Amino acid sequence: MNNLNNKRILITGVGIKPVDFVFKDITTGEPSHTLVDIDGKEYKANIGAATAFECAKAGAIVHIVARTESKLQIVKKWIEEKISGAKVEYSAVDLGNISALEKLVESIPNDLPLYWVQSVGLGAGTVQLKDDNPYLLIDDLSEELIEAELSVLKNTVSLLRLLLPRFRKQKETRVCIVSSMSAIRSVVSGSMHMAAKGSISRFTNAAMIELDKDKIFITDVRPGIVDTGMYDSRVVQNTVSMMGKNFGYDYSKTNLFCTPPSAVGKAIVSILTSDAHITSINMVARGQWPHEGS
Ligand SMILES: NC(=O)c1ccc[n+]([C@@H]2O[C@H](COP(=O)([O-])OP(=O)(O)OC[C@H]3O[C@@H](n4cnc5c(N)ncnc54)[C@H](OP(=O)(O)O)[C@@H]3O)[C@@H](O)[C@H]2O)c1
Repeated sequence: MNNLNNKRILITGVGIKPVDFVFKDITTGEPSHTLVDIDGKEYKANIGAATAFECAKAGAIVHIVARTESKLQIVKKWIEEKISGAKVEYSAVDLGNISALEKLVESIPNDLPLYWVQSVGLGAGTVQLKDDNPYLLIDDLSEELIEAELSVLKNTVSLLRLLLPRFRKQKETRVCIVSSMSAIRSVVSGSMHMAAKGSISRFTNAAMIELDKDKIFITDVRPGIVDTGMYDSRVVQNTVSMMGKNFGYDYSKTNLFCTPPSAVGKAIVSILTSDAHITSINMVARGQWPHEGS
């Protein structure tokens, strides 16, 4: 039985996107996104939002963070309406702003043990991309995209450093850092993204070894393609289908197969509540190329 009662989970990288394309699950034929339906509107939950939902369902108080307050308010309302007794706190903070991070860490109440799920990515609007496509050949990369990809590692390290004094005082701490299958499998048009994810994954592994003695148990979570809205553009679908083709997969008669964000959230709840320290987890949608290295 999963039980996160009397825990507060800080979840960074919570957001939603519009439903611009509906992907279907390979087995059930059901949509693979995690639906956020609120006030007559429908959105796709991202990994952070779906993780917040699953953690709240398992009894945790969740403290959700991203830069866009309006989206955090929608996610809070969604969770509190769907789960009786759920409590959602939020802070609209840019993780690249150190003094804002210091204030965030100070503002989180000290009444409960604090765990952390880091799920920040480039997100909608961080970088203006043609056709919303971040999967670019090396020649087509922009300086802005390179900087943005690298900033995720920097921001992760900055926030971890600020949280450590508090984590060290706790009986134990669990941390999940969402990197990606991109950390361990390379594809054409993914060089910068793979490099950025590889660096976060390696940092996570090194931090895991360094901090384990302080009873801070860190997990590297590596999802493949997740149905967060990031793949809704046709150009992105065509680019990713080409990647699949290089591994011997043909998606021309089907859609791409995407993991539901809720499945990532459920895996994270299992990690946070396990009697073991789960060091890493690889997960892809059923029907997506399951290569664990290339
Ligand atoms: N979606 C996938 O298929 C997939 C697959 C494997 C791995 N991943 C990884 O999983 C993580 C989550 O992915 P996702 O697709 O769910 O979400 P995402 O859109 O990549 O990023 C999550 C959120 O991070 C927030 N964010 C970005 N920069 C920020 C900053 N400087 N400060 C505070 N918040 C910031 C954005 O919200 P605001 O713009 O409101 O700040 C965004 O909603 C990412 O690291 C991603 O690379 C995703």
